[in-house]
Amino acid sequence: MTASNLSNSESLLLMIAGAKGAVGSTVAVASAAMRYQPELVLPSLTTKQMLPGLDPSEPVQVAGWDATDTTLPSAIGAQGVLSEEIWKPYADELEQVQVRTPPSDSLDLKGQVQQLTQDIKEFRGLYPNARAVLINLLPATVTENLHRFKSLSQLYSEFDPINLPDLAYAIAAILAGVPVVNFTPNEVEIPVVIDEAVKRGVPLSGRDGKTGQTYLKVVLASALKARNLFVDGWYSLNILGNQDGKNLMDPKRAAGKLSNKTEILNEILGYPVGERYGASSHQVKIDYYPPRGDAKEAWDVIDFLGLFGLPMSIRLNLQGRDSILATPLVLDLARWMVVLQRAGRSGPIPELAFYYKQPLGDDAPVTFQDQLSRLRQLATGLREEISRQKAVRSGR
Ligand SMILES: NC(=O)c1ccc[n+]([C@@H]2O[C@H](COP(=O)([O-])OP(=O)(O)OC[C@H]3O[C@@H](n4cnc5c(N)ncnc54)[C@H](O)[C@@H]3O)[C@@H](O)[C@H]2O)c1
Repeated sequence: MTASNLSNSESLLLMIAGAKGAVGSTVAVASAAMRYQPELVLPSLTTKQMLPGLDPSEPVQVAGWDATDTTLPSAIGAQGVLSEEIWKPYADELEQVQVRTPPSDSLDLKGQVQQLTQDIKEFRGLYPNARAVLINLLPATVTENLHRFKSLSQLYSEFDPINLPDLAYAIAAILAGVPVVNFTPNEVEIPVVIDEAVKRGVPLSGRDGKTGQTYLKVVLASALKARNLFVDGWYSLNILGNQDGKNLMDPKRAAGKLSNKTEILNEILGYPVGERYGASSHQVKIDYYPPRGDAKEAWDVIDFLGLFGLPMSIRLNLQGRDSILATPLVLDLARWMVVLQRAGRSGPIPELAFYYKQPLGDDAPVTFQDQLSRLRQLATGLREEISRQKAVRSGR
């Protein structure tokens, strides 16, 4: 196969922390596919319609880090997300992708940032014309409250990164002027980090990609609210058999994800679900169930009340594919970040709430209607800004 459009256009460089995981490796395959058969991937991107200022056929390169030492193609095979007929045509390219070993746990935070800074420099050297974005796809980890740290130097001297490897990646990217997409539930956007990003003109987006069940929850809850139908209870069950599901069996690691999945409902509706029972009747459960692999299944039972308080209910069964739902969003987010940075945006981008369970920024929209309309407004604003910059460059 020969790649189109490689030589004279500006490409995107995705630097992925967790590059051999279920999502990371699927992103790598989709990126290779985009270079050879863009028609296989582009129709799944929301940015195809929304960001015409960014050429959707720009090549996407991948590099990154992972803690496992299998090759990327073996990792793709082992994940079982994609059949061989989908990824094997790109096997040679995927073999060439640079996936490095993460910094050793024996290094302190500063040492880890220094190693990652060097890696980032070398990755950028490989693709000098590419616009780089850091994509955080590390496993969900325990929640740490780091808001007490007042400066980077205090973080460096007092914080042990052992339970939050994500932080070193985010800091190294920001120091290098590279935007960060945080698809995980792990909180790296603490005040010190946000300040640094704003200072260096780096946009941040996160947290916790909104791919399947929670996406539909936002849609349905927004629809029920718009009709003044009162939500009396919402029971959500997820079964999944991939590594993410296994990892989330540790209650401490699942806590952040569960609270992101839970809080969102009260925020949309504007009242605590289950108030009349004295305890929340919004319940979210995640169970690791190996037979499903990445093909996760989600069940929702929604009890709601209408006129005269009469009860009604909805049953929803989503048979999704975790990484297949997540991958286009990762590609979309990378593209948004590049355009946002070009347009001079920095720090948290609340307009990207559409993509996240726990959107960053003080005024992030919560209902589906608001999230979509803020996203469209963002696209319009960026299109105008890009045209303005073009006009300035051409001296008009
Ligand atoms: N798939 C979805 O729909 C979805 C939705 C929302 C959020 N997420 C989040 O995205 C993240 C990735 O999901 P996944 O299914 O790909 O998980 P995964 O467990 O398959 O992949 C994580 C990868 O990170 C690697 N890793 C672990 N520690 C590392 C380190 N210190 N440095 C570099 N690599 C390291 C692991 O070896 C693994 O390959 C998770 O946090 C998950 O909760 C996924």
